[in-house]
Amino acid sequence: MEKKKLLFVCLGNICRSPAAEGIMKKKVKEAGLENFIEVDSAGITGYHEGELPDQRMRAYAARRGYELTSRSRPVKYNDFLEFDLIIGMDDSNIRHLMQKAPTPESQQKIHRMTDYCKKYTNDHVPDPYYGGANGFELVLDLLEDSCDGLLEIII
Ligand code: 4NP
Repeated sequence: MEKKKLLFVCLGNICRSPAAEGIMKKKVKEAGLENFIEVDSAGITGYHEGELPDQRMRAYAARRGYELTSRSRPVKYNDFLEFDLIIGMDDSNIRHLMQKAPTPESQQKIHRMTDYCKKYTNDHVPDPYYGGANGFELVLDLLEDSCDGLLEIII
C-alpha cells in the first residue's frame, strides 16, 4: 500500500479539524495502518496558533474515547505540496483552500469531509464554536462517519 498523507482543515484548527485528526488517528491505529497513513490538521486562520483544541471539543471527544492533543497552526504553502488529501469542513474552508493552493495539481487534492460520509447526508460539518452541546455532538457524529468512509476509500 502506498503511503498517504491526510490534512484536515477548518477555520480555527481548534474544534472540527483537530477532532477529525484525533478520530482518524485512532481508527488508523486500530486498523494497524500507522505506517501507511499520516494524519495532521490545520486552520485557515492562525488566530489560535499554538493552542490546544477548544476545552469543550476536547471534553466531548474524550467521552467517546478520543484524546485531542494537537496544537493549532495555520495552513502553509508546503502543505499543498506534501499532503495527498486536503480535506475541508465547509464551503468557506474549501473556497479559501482553493485560493491558497499554489498549483492546479494541489487544487485537485482539496476535498469536502462530508463527501466521505456513509450514513449522514449533511453537506458540511458545521462550526460548533458559538453553539451548545448538540453542535459538538453533531460534529463528532459527522466526523466518525466520514472517517469510516475515508478509511475505506484509501485502503
Ligand atoms: P473550528 O471552530 O474552525 O472548528 O476550529 C472555530 C474556532 C474558532 C473560531 C471560529 C471557529 N473563532 O472565530 O475564533
